[in-house]
Amino acid sequence: MSQKGFVLWFTGLSGSGKSTLAEYLTPVLMERGKNVEVLDGDVVRTNLSKGLGFSKEDRDTNVARIGFVANLLARNGCCSITAAISPYQEVRDQCRGMIDPARAEFVEVYVEAPLAVVEERDTKGLYKKARSGEIKNFTGVSDPYEAPTNAEITVHTGDESIEESANKILAYLEERGLIAATAAQA
Ligand code: ADX
Repeated sequence: MSQKGFVLWFTGLSGSGKSTLAEYLTPVLMERGKNVEVLDGDVVRTNLSKGLGFSKEDRDTNVARIGFVANLLARNGCCSITAAISPYQEVRDQCRGMIDPARAEFVEVYVEAPLAVVEERDTKGLYKKARSGEIKNFTGVSDPYEAPTNAEITVHTGDESIEESANKILAYLEERGLIAATAAQA
């Protein structure tokens, strides 16, 4: 099978479900015959982007690095799933622009959840710290988040189950011919 690679670019607030969706989709995409690599913001920041903070400049550097690696993988037929907040439209568009359309596709997925919902979940306890001022420049609280205007897919993780959100993404990928419609035969 010689399907094109693609970048599945998740963007959304901290706690919106980007990493969870990436983990959920990984085995499903593997069953459909793709090699999959996840570039998760939290993980990238412990190695490739070690030392970077959360100023606009550092976030843009972090995101551009993720885009660079995602493109290298995708142009060789892989599916790269990125899971970083990636709050700024301009650098997301730069990452989109790195892709050679003859070799891969860029699929931006807006992982949308209202601030009230992610703040209520507060899985890492960071929103509480952001509200108290212990953490500065926290996305959605004291730092901007620019919602995508041109995302290929939007999932609403506040109202949808993870399966529903994942199925929306899979349906799009099938429609674009980027994955097989059914699991590959073992
Ligand atoms: S990005 O803005 O550069 O794309 P990235 O996704 O890599 O961000 O990292 C976000 C993660 O770092 C959050 O999920 C959270 O765990 C942690 N974090 C620590 N400080 C901040 C902050 N000021 N703003 C957002 N996330 C932060």
